[in-house]
Amino acid sequence: MKMKLAIAGTGYVGLVTGVCLAEVGHTVICYDIQEEKISLLSEGKSPIYEPGVEDIIKKNMEESRLFFTTDPGEAYKEADCIFIAVGTPESEDGSANMQFVEEAAMTIASHIKPDSTVVIKSTVPVGVNERIEDLIFEHSGHRISVVSNPEFLREGSAIHDSFNGDRIVIGANDQLAGDLVEKIYQPFNIPVVRTDVRSAEMIKYASNAFLATKISFINEVANLCEATGANVADVAKGMGMDKRIGEQFLRAGIGFGGSCFPKDTKALQKLAGDYHYDFKILSAVIDVNSRQKLKLFEKAREFYPEMTGKKAAILGLSFKPNTDDIREAPSIELLNELLLAGAEVEVYDPIAMKNVETIYGNKINYASSAEACLQDKDVAFIVTEWEEIKSIPLESYRTKMTVPNIVDGRNCYSLEEAAASGINYLSIGRQMIKSSQHC
Ligand SMILES: NC(=O)c1ccc[n+]([C@@H]2O[C@H](COP(=O)([O-])OP(=O)(O)OC[C@H]3O[C@@H](n4cnc5c(N)ncnc54)[C@H](O)[C@@H]3O)[C@@H](O)[C@H]2O)c1
Repeated sequence: MKMKLAIAGTGYVGLVTGVCLAEVGHTVICYDIQEEKISLLSEGKSPIYEPGVEDIIKKNMEESRLFFTTDPGEAYKEADCIFIAVGTPESEDGSANMQFVEEAAMTIASHIKPDSTVVIKSTVPVGVNERIEDLIFEHSGHRISVVSNPEFLREGSAIHDSFNGDRIVIGANDQLAGDLVEKIYQPFNIPVVRTDVRSAEMIKYASNAFLATKISFINEVANLCEATGANVADVAKGMGMDKRIGEQFLRAGIGFGGSCFPKDTKALQKLAGDYHYDFKILSAVIDVNSRQKLKLFEKAREFYPEMTGKKAAILGLSFKPNTDDIREAPSIELLNELLLAGAEVEVYDPIAMKNVETIYGNKINYASSAEACLQDKDVAFIVTEWEEIKSIPLESYRTKMTVPNIVDGRNCYSLEEAAASGINYLSIGRQMIKSSQHC
């Protein structure tokens, strides 16, 4: 059954959801309050970097199934179902900020038709869907059902994930509204989990908190490996082959970042506190992550106790490869520490450099390539494992840098190749390699 759908918010989630729903045959109109985003999108250009998204935008626009507007009336008045996919950033007290969801809901209330349904894809704390249902009733006079449909896509593979998700969660207190949302997703042929609204809201937070726990757990193991002489890569491999554990999210590194895990773990901790529940594991996960994010800077002190005047290269800025998203990226924390310590910093990222430039301007230098970034540096930090960065030959570090001191936060090289290449190499959860030439 093809339907008329509207999407509120054309960020990573809203845009990808909109284009994928159009791709399976629905007519989709995407609304955003940002004029620049909508004018770019109306020309078939994506305001975010997400592999494959532009091709699907253009195709569905040409086939007259995908539209963009800044006019809420045009977006909402005929929609059978309206998806809210606006941001829910972290508030100062750690809770999820509901300002954008509430504003979106009030605008929807002014234009929605009485037999429409609202779906919240944004990650919102338990109880918010019900509150938004009341808000829309107060402002529209219509009792519109609000269905929780949390999103699990990953930036960098968002289109693939939308068509190949492990499950679609639909939380509805109104059976018919839940059925409608299930029909919308039928063409995706992905297993559906039907729950009440509150359980669906909790599934999203619990899932992210669990994945974050795996990351903090392996980072703790990595720190212990460094102390004891074990190799965390081998340890993780040996653990991950146990199907009860699984190999994913067991890569030791510099802590989780991005637009979801940091804020969602804190929001769940705040939610637990609001219900007077001390979620002990979650608090430890958050603490371990804060400590891990400083790891690279601390490691560099093994090369230079004082960083003042040292020339540092940062390779990779986005919080993970294949995205331009730098929200809560470990690179930003490292950058701040280095600047505070008086280091001279040059950065490189294949895609995210312009986002960093809008924050740091001329306080740092921007290299034209990964290898150019190494030129005449005292220390290089590998922060994001883009393919281009992972494939830099170790020879380049040795020949281009003043001293080939490398701090690898992503364990991109084996200890054997590092040892053979004449560099000084510090990585995560593994032993240090010191070149006799330089130390
Ligand atoms: N980014 C991810 O990987 C991801 C994955 C799963 C879930 N989520 C969740 O999805 C939600 C959206 O995340 P995102 O990363 O896409 O956010 P984003 O910041 O990229 O996009 C949000 C968009 O909403 C627009 N907006 C704000 N107020 C609006 C309004 N009143 N009406 C219409 N548009 C409005 C903004 O202009 C922006 O374009 C968040 O709750 C997030 O936690 C994100």
